[in-house]
Amino acid sequence: MRAITVIPHQAGSMRLDANLAEPDPGPGEVVVEGRYIGVCGTDHELREGAYGWAPPERDRLVIGHESLGVVRSAPAGSGLSAGDLVAGIVRRPDPVPCPACAVGQFDFCRNGQYVEHGIKSLDGFGREVWTAQPDAIQRIDPSLGDLGVLMEPTSVVAKGWDQTDKISSRAFFSPERLLVTGAGTIGLLAALMGRHRGMAVDVLDRGDLGPKRSLVEALGATYHDGPGTLGKGYDVVMECTGAGSLIFDVIGRTGAPGVVCLLGVSGGGSQIKVDPSTLNNELVLENDVIFGSVNANKSHWEMAATTLAAADKDWLARLVSRKVPMSKFDEAFEHSEGDVKVTIDLQH
Ligand code: BGC
Repeated sequence: MRAITVIPHQAGSMRLDANLAEPDPGPGEVVVEGRYIGVCGTDHELREGAYGWAPPERDRLVIGHESLGVVRSAPAGSGLSAGDLVAGIVRRPDPVPCPACAVGQFDFCRNGQYVEHGIKSLDGFGREVWTAQPDAIQRIDPSLGDLGVLMEPTSVVAKGWDQTDKISSRAFFSPERLLVTGAGTIGLLAALMGRHRGMAVDVLDRGDLGPKRSLVEALGATYHDGPGTLGKGYDVVMECTGAGSLIFDVIGRTGAPGVVCLLGVSGGGSQIKVDPSTLNNELVLENDVIFGSVNANKSHWEMAATTLAAADKDWLARLVSRKVPMSKFDEAFEHSEGDVKVTIDLQH
C-alpha cells in the first residue's frame, strides 16, 4: 500500500512511500480503507520539521490525523460493519493511565504520555489501509459522504463549545452574541455551531479574498475584514487564529460575564505591550474566563457527528476547497489564497 510519511523534525523529508505492507489487524481490530485526509496547520508544521514524533524505534511517521475511511472488515459485536463511513479518533490514552485518561478524558491527559495518530508516536491515516480498535473509531452519517473528512476539526470545535457550556453553567448565562476570530475551517465550524445555537455571530478575518465572506454570510452571520467594524459585549469569543495581538484585543470585547475560548496555536515571535492591571480588572470586574482547548474525546466526536449530520451539506461542501490526489500530495501543501480545507484523496 501507499502512505505519506515524514521524518519528524526534518524539513523536506515528507514523501510518498509505495509498496508498504498493509497493517495486520490485531485482536478485535477493525480494518479501514482510507479515502481522504485533511491537511491543517499541524501537517504543515510536520512538513516544515517543526513538530511531531515518530513511533518508537522508527524514523518515519505516517501523517494524517483528519481522516475519512470505509470499513473493510469489522469483528462481530464491534458495532461497525463493512461499508460504514468512519473517521479515526486522533488521540489515544496514555498507557499509565493518568486519572483523566482512565475515565476517557484523554484530551485532558495529565502526564503528556498520550499518543496521537499522525502527530505523536502513532502512525496516521495518510495511507491506503489502517486498523484500529472499535472505540477509536467514529461512525459517520452516510449522508455526509466525502464531507465526513471534516469530522476531526469539528470534534475540536465541539470540545471548545462543550467547555464553554461547562464554564458558563457556573451561574446564570444566556449567551446571545458570538465573536469568532479567523475564518479558516475551525473558525467557520465554530460559527456554524454558534448559529445552530441561535446566536448572533460576527466573524473576523483578514482581507476579503476567496469564499470566506460568502461562507460566513450564508450562515446568517456577519463578516468583518478588520477589527474596526467589530462591536463589544460579546458573550462568547472563539479565538481561532492564535495571533498574539488579536487575543488581547478580543478579551477587551467581551460582555460581563464573557467566555473566551482559545483554539488557535501561535507561531511565536511577536511581542506586544499589555497592561496587566487593565487585563486583570477586565477579567475580575466582568467575571470573565479565558481558557485554552486542544483535541477532543469520544463525546466530542459524537457531538461532531451530530453537528455535521444536521448541517447544510452544500455549505459544508464549500469548505473543501481542493482535493489533491495522493500521488501529488505536495500540491496540498501549496498555499493558495482562499483555500479553506485542502484534502488528499488516498485512492488516486
Ligand atoms: C489536532 C489535535 C491535536 C493537536 C496537537 C491539532 O492539529 O487537531 O487533535 O491534539 O494538533 O497535537
